Amino acid sequence: MAVDVILGLQWGDEGKGKIVDYLASQYDLVARFQGGPNAGHTLKFDGHKYVLHTVPSGIFREGLINLIGNGVVIDPITLHKEIELLRTANVAFEDRLLVSRKAHLILPTHRYLDAASEAAKGKAKIGSTLKGIGPTYMDKTGRNGIRVGDCMRSDFMEKYNVLKKKHLGLLKQYPDVDFDLEAEEKKWFECLDLLRSLTHVDGEYYVNKALREGKRVLAEGAQGSMLDIDFGTYPFVTSSNTISAGVCNGLGVAPNKIGEVIGITKAYCTRVGAGPFPTELHDETGEFLRKEGAEFGATTGRPRRCGWIDIPQLNYTIMLNGVTQLVVTKIDVLDKFDEISVGVAYQYDGKETDVLPYDIDSTEITPVYQPYAGWKCSLGDSNEFDALPDNAQNYIKVLEEQLNTPVTMVSTGPERKKLILRKAEVMS
Ligand code: GDP
Ligand code: IMO
Ligand code: MG
Repeated sequence: MAVDVILGLQWGDEGKGKIVDYLASQYDLVARFQGGPNAGHTLKFDGHKYVLHTVPSGIFREGLINLIGNGVVIDPITLHKEIELLRTANVAFEDRLLVSRKAHLILPTHRYLDAASEAAKGKAKIGSTLKGIGPTYMDKTGRNGIRVGDCMRSDFMEKYNVLKKKHLGLLKQYPDVDFDLEAEEKKWFECLDLLRSLTHVDGEYYVNKALREGKRVLAEGAQGSMLDIDFGTYPFVTSSNTISAGVCNGLGVAPNKIGEVIGITKAYCTRVGAGPFPTELHDETGEFLRKEGAEFGATTGRPRRCGWIDIPQLNYTIMLNGVTQLVVTKIDVLDKFDEISVGVAYQYDGKETDVLPYDIDSTEITPVYQPYAGWKCSLGDSNEFDALPDNAQNYIKVLEEQLNTPVTMVSTGPERKKLILRKAEVMS
């Protein structure tokens, strides 16, 4: 068997949580492979709404296993909160939530450093979620990090204190920020006990054994491909590989074990935090998209920047990920528009192109738009593609053509059941 992958093709918040939750029932194992509590994945069903940050979005589907992979960074405090949420919702997670021993821990001082380093950047700040993501991955690649497996070892406190001391040294070079380290540490150690009580596994052995036994595995991405550390709008990115290649080192599966790559895009585009966004709308249309789409961050509550869908940007991330099928979400948000624009090319340096420039953060890009007629009505509850208004069907077909990839699912609302499947078989 192969690992199927679901990931975001834009700057995050494409609706990954909803789609993973929907498809999870077709799988035996759902695994997060990168990112950490900077993610906010929203699930809506049976009148309830849940936002997950670290726990994979398959957790609400009975019987299947959920793995937090080695590529993920874990804050015991956030994980504790999520587990409380599962308890309140009466979700039996105890035998179904596994944590890789090789996943790295976010320490309170990582969050402290994140806040201090963002504050020091002044105007150049990235708009980080301040969850300690950057500093934790820096310690991982700098070979100073502490992993989940370490919290079970007798020398854990020694390791912790060495790293904390290093962080306190670094903090001296930054401006003062408000951070109650003592209180945060107290909470952290209390919550660490819960992490200790979960089942720890060697995730790479676990996943590969599952594949050998014919189990169906789904990898859940966090953030979006344009936030990838290598290929995103650097330096306005996150600190992990969010693209499909990240599945290999974030779970320990070989490239030839990757099956379907399901890329998710909104029917328009959003970004939260700073950085380039060629098709961003700074006018009342952008404001209208934000209102209709309830575009406020699931993790930080910040308003998301909004704009039209961007074909060159999507073709870039489809290329990087090897996307085999597309999911278009939030098409209902466009219900009231007379006309919908699609960014089909860029204009910069006096020429028209479909290539994202290397120095995208300092290049003045003017998108070239193609307008399409809106459908001006509610999409209703039908799960049939043919029941969509003609102009909505046409919009999906235009995207399919421009992106040269089949659109296999269309999401028409936040709830689990608001999904149109265009192809019965999703799995590889
Ligand atoms: P994720 O990070 O990719 O999982 O996405 P988020 O949960 O951060 O943001 C997606 C938001 O859009 C959430 O509030 C979802 O409930 C909502 N959502 C998902 N799909 C749809 C859809 O098809 N239509 C509408 N209106 N909302 C949706
Ligand atoms: P999900 O999984 C949207 C953005 C932040 C910031 C940049 C770096 O819900 O799609 P970091 O905290 O990683 O140092 O922030 O990346 N960012 C996200 N934007 N959705 C996310 O996750 C994000 N995770 C990080 O806003 O611009
Ligand atoms: Mg999100």
